[in-house]
Amino acid sequence: ELHPLPPLTSDFLYVLDRVCEQCYRDFAPDELELSIRELILQQLETFVRRQFAGKLQLFGSSKNGFGFKKSDLDICMVLEGQESIDDVDCIKIIESLARCLKKNPGLRNILPITTAKVPIVKFYHISTSLEGDISLYNTLALHNTHLLASYAAIDRRVKILCYVMKVFAKMCDIGDASRGSLSSYAYTLMVLFFLQQRNPPVIPVLQEIYFGRKKPEVLVDGWNVYFFDDLKPSHWPHHGKNTESIGELWLGLLRFYTEDFDFKEHVVSIRQQARLTTFSKQWTSKYIVIEDPFDLNHNLGAGLSRKMTNFIMKAFINGRTVFGTPFQVLPSIYPSHME
Ligand code: GTP
Ligand code: MG
Repeated sequence: ELHPLPPLTSDFLYVLDRVCEQCYRDFAPDELELSIRELILQQLETFVRRQFAGKLQLFGSSKNGFGFKKSDLDICMVLEGQESIDDVDCIKIIESLARCLKKNPGLRNILPITTAKVPIVKFYHISTSLEGDISLYNTLALHNTHLLASYAAIDRRVKILCYVMKVFAKMCDIGDASRGSLSSYAYTLMVLFFLQQRNPPVIPVLQEIYFGRKKPEVLVDGWNVYFFDDLKPSHWPHHGKNTESIGELWLGLLRFYTEDFDFKEHVVSIRQQARLTTFSKQWTSKYIVIEDPFDLNHNLGAGLSRKMTNFIMKAFINGRTVFGTPFQVLPSIYPSHME
């Protein structure tokens, strides 16, 4: 059950803002850490080139603007002069890539995983103690990384809120898809959707901005990956209208997903402003439904059990109470696994 929340005082809002800002400062990598990631990528590419005519590219949170200091390195490899790859070749190359990487003294724990939907080679980079994985032709992920980065660049509040959300998810143990909950990517989509649906909106729907009569088509793996990636304030009528603080938005988000948003009826979908129904997608068997912005057949919540769904919803309800009730002392301690 939802507790009634006391009215927000300006003192309390100030504290909420500070907590959010602090979270961002504690977890965001600096320029140096980002350039080290590029350096590792270069070294790996040089090494891999002894055997493959491959080009490596970083994606995921190393590139989308929502990376943590210790986030994994998500790397995509494509082979020169080859447009795509079939499943059989993909698994063969992943296996020989793993054998190749085992000869690299800078790496440890090389592990090919060929049974996953997206086959990968996992590795551990010893000197930086970063984990990473290499996938092949993960082209849609490169595009959704770019989409998220474009949203992150629009407004500083987007970035901070996505960090707060990721930290919250990790602290509540609801942010690990490999253990049955939701991925960071899914939570980021939830934040972006909330910011689009806020009145007035904090961010536009980039996939709905185009200046012709028809939406341009840029097809990748059969999906339209078009979005407007050169947002100038003049391109968007609501620009600057929403002046809420980060703390207000964070509590607003927790309230939105516990009080307003009807999970039974609606899909979390950042590709359109209009509400999308679970019925129209035939996705009525799950409670939390999050549509990938490009791969429209992909529901990020498809893997959630009923139990996990309840656990996640409870975390949001508790979060709403904790962040919605004024406290005297800042809860400044992260659980030890977050440090
Ligand atoms: P952290 O590593 O937790 O900091 O965040 P991350 O965004 O890098 O998440 P993760 O390493 O799990 O995934 C890496 C990237 O793969 C994401 O940023 C997305 O671009 C992409 N990705 C992850 N899950 C999915 C998915 O279910 N569908 C699609 N299309 N892309 C995904
Ligand atoms: Mg990652």
